[in-house]
Amino acid sequence: MKVTVVGAGAVGATCADNIARKELAEELVLLDIREGFAEGKAIDMMQTAALLEFDTKIKGVTNDYAATAGSEVVVVTSGLPRKPGMTREELIGVNAGIVKSVTENILKHSPNTIIIVVSNPMDTMNYLTLKSSGLPKNRVIGMGGALDSARFKYYLSLELGCSPADLNAVVIGGHGDTTMIPLINHATWNSIPVTQFLSKEQQDKVVADTMVGGATLTKLIGTSAWYAPGAGTAFMVESILRDQKKLISCGVALEGEYGQTDISLVVPVILGKNGWEKIIDFKLTEAEQAAFNKSADAVRNMNDVLKTL
Ligand code: 2OP
Repeated sequence: MKVTVVGAGAVGATCADNIARKELAEELVLLDIREGFAEGKAIDMMQTAALLEFDTKIKGVTNDYAATAGSEVVVVTSGLPRKPGMTREELIGVNAGIVKSVTENILKHSPNTIIIVVSNPMDTMNYLTLKSSGLPKNRVIGMGGALDSARFKYYLSLELGCSPADLNAVVIGGHGDTTMIPLINHATWNSIPVTQFLSKEQQDKVVADTMVGGATLTKLIGTSAWYAPGAGTAFMVESILRDQKKLISCGVALEGEYGQTDISLVVPVILGKNGWEKIIDFKLTEAEQAAFNKSADAVRNMNDVLKTL
């Protein structure tokens, strides 16, 4: 198995670190545009192999796409991260050009790969990759739901005083501060609805905190977060490479599912060796469907900006 991570910044490097620690691939290529940057991070990670006992071979390269040839999965983290006070959407102009050219270069050497898009604004960058790559829709997957669902579980665990791993909770919609929809009414604590334990105020707080989870960290750290985004991406890579068929919220092309077409939005899908293999239709309430439609409108407006670039 071979995986490429494009962008050796904090998210890309953390994703690579997680992939190596779990030995998800024999070969891992870390590529960055900055001279020597990916090489340095790859060597630093390889120097943990003796301590962490993994056999994944990590190779760092500067813009050498030939080294990525034959990758089963390519993770695209390239582009600018957001700064405090910035929305993910404000990055569209600069990141669209970067993501498009990265995709072209990747496909020259791995024409049949599965691409996981992490770059922001994720819903629009995933839509752009779907349109510009010509790959079958199942092979283009946006990261966001895995991360946002993990953040949702974190905030729920604080209110419940429980282990986040004991929770089942899903975020759908978009990967934006106002477009994501944490499905609180469907969240359970080992199959017991969390709404049974939490007051309306607590529920509203968890939902609100989840929605601005990324922005809260950007404000605290001074740049976009990386531990959970990197782990969320590696979680998806694992389900694909090990053909685990996990049910994970991901950004995928909708063609009528959830009442939407010609758009990429986050919905629960089965992730396996063929990429996303099936969209799972959640029975949404009227209010949840209305929120989903509203997110779709916002994401569609953002996608329209691509036409002006
Ligand atoms: C986040 O929410 C990187 O968009 C990502 O932290």
